Amino acid sequence: MLKFSKNTFYTGTTSPLFTSEIARKVRSFHKKIEGYTPTPLVSLPALAERLGVKSIQVKDESYRFGLNAFKVLGGSYALGRLLAEHLQIDIDEVDLKTISSKLKKPLIFATATAGNHGTGVAWAAREMGQTAVVYMPKGSPQASVDRIRGLGAECIVTDVNYDDTVRLASQTSDKNGWMLVQDTAWEGYEKIPTWISQGYTTMAAEALEQTAEAPTHVMLQAGVGAMAGGILGYLADELGSENFNTVISEPRAADCIYRSGTSKAGDMISVDGDLNSIMAGLACGEPNPLTWPVLRDCSNAFASVTDSVTATGMRILGNPLQGDTAIISGESGGINMGLLYQMAVHPEGKLLAETVGLNKDSVVLIFSTEGDTNPERYRHIVWEGSLPTTKD
Ligand SMILES: Cc1ncc(COP(=O)(O)O)c(C=O)c1O
Repeated sequence: MLKFSKNTFYTGTTSPLFTSEIARKVRSFHKKIEGYTPTPLVSLPALAERLGVKSIQVKDESYRFGLNAFKVLGGSYALGRLLAEHLQIDIDEVDLKTISSKLKKPLIFATATAGNHGTGVAWAAREMGQTAVVYMPKGSPQASVDRIRGLGAECIVTDVNYDDTVRLASQTSDKNGWMLVQDTAWEGYEKIPTWISQGYTTMAAEALEQTAEAPTHVMLQAGVGAMAGGILGYLADELGSENFNTVISEPRAADCIYRSGTSKAGDMISVDGDLNSIMAGLACGEPNPLTWPVLRDCSNAFASVTDSVTATGMRILGNPLQGDTAIISGESGGINMGLLYQMAVHPEGKLLAETVGLNKDSVVLIFSTEGDTNPERYRHIVWEGSLPTTKD
């Protein structure tokens, strides 16, 4: 159910890509988007008492711009930067309402997605009067396809897995002269993914503003690690990397960060195949080379968990103890609540808790990065009890 490893490569070295200064600039861009409002940071005092920690704070990203996931923070910032670059102006001068009138015709932004990133890019393109083309891997839920098409984008479902879909989107963009807005990097393609990861820092900057106490423990889920790296990089700069502990969690079927963190020399290790996990947003087999160094240098432990762990997390968040607030958390959002629960009740989990010094004085920060983006499966898990942990 749960495998973990202490990060033996930890140095605490901060990254110049994710500073407090950059996060301020990113946030001032997001504040200009109509409807911007910080998502709730929900405290769960009854659960904290039950699990033996001082406090549990959950950032509920189901409220992000009405899109049910945090991802738009990255896509919108990247589109803003690309448009600013195209018009040779500073990002601070971008006016989202009038930007399209400054172009002869709309630009075409393409991307590959497991669902949430493409939704964010489609939405941001529509907000800025531009065009989006979105590629999805085989087996993608119809609900995601419909959501993306509903935002005015073209959406194409491929017959290959996520990583191959990224390659396809990249090749097609090159051929057609489109701008690829991808949330992972590779050699020669780094600028846009850097902006995307920087875009995610808004989520953490809001959380620090909303919390009464700085976190002692931060739990971050990873697909390619662009979100975890951006957030951890920013928090390390803002709080000092020595002042908190971080656990990076992943689905067992796509645990490329865990494998990289447990490799001999801390090199990036990929996982291929079908990457079969209900955590669609985390089912990515190739680490992002831009953010891997941040995770390698600043996180304290890597965890690889089965789907039942996130299913438990989703049920805990959706069915709180008396007095606590309910949070609708999807498959990629619930993993860390499930893991925190395992850290309180499961022998292997307790070892992880000990490794990262989790105790009664700990203030835990968790990001529920999506709501019920796959509503049918959400109800299958939370209402009908699919994927019980006892079966593991
Ligand atoms: C809901 C959700 N959470 C977390 C992630 C992980 O982000 P990353 O691929 O940057 O690690 C994703 C990625 O799509 C996601 O959709």
